[in-house]
Amino acid sequence: MQIPKQVLQQFGGVGLDSVVGELRRHGWTRFNTAEFEMWEFLPFLGKLLNHTQVSVVEGSKSLVTSARGLSPHTDHHRARYILWNCDVQQESGGETILVDGLAVFSSMSQADKTNLRNIRLMEHSMFDGDEASHPMVFDLGGDEALYYSYWLCDESISPILRESFNRFHAAVKSVQPIFIRLETGESLLIDNNRMLHGRVPLEQNSPRILQRYWFG
Ligand SMILES: [Fe+2]
Repeated sequence: MQIPKQVLQQFGGVGLDSVVGELRRHGWTRFNTAEFEMWEFLPFLGKLLNHTQVSVVEGSKSLVTSARGLSPHTDHHRARYILWNCDVQQESGGETILVDGLAVFSSMSQADKTNLRNIRLMEHSMFDGDEASHPMVFDLGGDEALYYSYWLCDESISPILRESFNRFHAAVKSVQPIFIRLETGESLLIDNNRMLHGRVPLEQNSPRILQRYWFG
């Protein structure tokens, strides 16, 4: 995607800087969608890897397009950042849930951390070079990062690793999550290698429509 030169010179403007700064400090930020164009984020967030419309599709077997609530998790490990633009929100409810997964990981015992670093979770192949599984805790430029699609934990992992995994899962559930109800026209941007996201159950015929973008 080509970015016009005159636009590149505007980077460093307070608006975008403060959004990206907040993202880096807290792992997430929200803002008015109309304030920014998608491509403005590219120099900060990397390539646009994927775009998916998230809405309830009647009878859907896919979790994303069902009305079911989703426990905190990460998306694909290569999606460093996830941006959701809220096109339509339900009249009430429809909250997104956020938990700082790396903070939970840091709170675990040394033994659990060591075990969690040895767990690989299955991963759907989406990009060239994807393997069938990926480490739950991995190195990202010298920092630890999380991949936590918890329902893809291989049944055959050792009991010791499973115990640590279950303790991490319980710890995530015990944290008071951040509830964010995006209004129509609002966006939420998160660091997907740090923050876990989920949602409360939606209305069966929910009109909620989010545009989801993966950057990495
Ligand atoms: Fe997700």
